[in-house]
Amino acid sequence: MKEDLEYIYEFVNDKIKIERREKDYNLLKAESDVFDRKTMLTLYELLSHGYFDIIEFPIKIGKEANIFRAKKGRKYYAVKIYRTSTKNFNSIIKYIEGDYRFEHFKRSTLGIIYLWAQKEFRNLTDCYNASVLVPKPVVFRNNIVVMEYLGNSRYPAPLLKDYPQDLQKFYGMVRDNVIRMVNDALLVHGDLSEYNIVIHKDKPYIIDVSQAMPVKHPNARTLLERDVRNIVRFFSKKGVDANEKDFYDSINWGVFV
Ligand SMILES: Nc1ncnc2c1ncn2[C@@H]1O[C@H](COP(=O)(O)OP(=O)(O)OP(=O)(O)O)[C@@H](O)[C@H]1O
Ligand SMILES: [Mg+2]
Repeated sequence: MKEDLEYIYEFVNDKIKIERREKDYNLLKAESDVFDRKTMLTLYELLSHGYFDIIEFPIKIGKEANIFRAKKGRKYYAVKIYRTSTKNFNSIIKYIEGDYRFEHFKRSTLGIIYLWAQKEFRNLTDCYNASVLVPKPVVFRNNIVVMEYLGNSRYPAPLLKDYPQDLQKFYGMVRDNVIRMVNDALLVHGDLSEYNIVIHKDKPYIIDVSQAMPVKHPNARTLLERDVRNIVRFFSKKGVDANEKDFYDSINWGVFV
């Protein structure tokens, strides 16, 4: 078994090409919980199944998750790896309890993290199937979610908050996506802002959907109101004629409890 593990480590390490960017690599190495044993085993599984061939570099190193760009042939993927330890256990549990899709779950830290990744994948799938602009989900395994990479060969797609042009147009598109997410995917994002929307191929994509809740959840309406307020605030500040009514007139309120 020890030999197997050694082989797996060697195999996976060989596919992680981060060394090229010294700064990133040192940052990651300093935080040994990113590539812990379980994560290495999960990466091994995903690599062996051929979902991607190499992990190129981190797009973002965060407190709860790290996103990497991976590559298979000439195609890129975004690989979101949730940390297997978290200090935010309680804030995560809040978004799992009361979600009727995940009634039975293990209350261990690892169980919750795995469920969190599963929930993000499920939410991405529901959004994608309802034609909401989100990265296309590919696969999830334990604490890892693989999805479509948004961006070009050089840079990941910029956040809405940093995007200077066409804001009037994007406002209409963001509004339509939020409405579709509620009316058709039957979900509210719950953490929507200019920080969780990226501009890719001239369209706004909604990301970071792990906390999204079904519209039937008792808090869904409050979460939607907060999301809408954030979006209207951002676009108004940028001089766009934005109004909460633009959203509420088209929301199918009948889907809420
Ligand atoms: N599919 C993707 N393609 C390209 N870049 C992405 C993709 N998904 C996320 N990113 C980039 O990675 C960053 C972090 O992603 P995300 O918002 O999903 O996680 P997070 O904010 O770290 O999660 P948390 O809210 O738990 O801290 C985003 O701001 C975005 O720049
Ligand atoms: Mg985010």
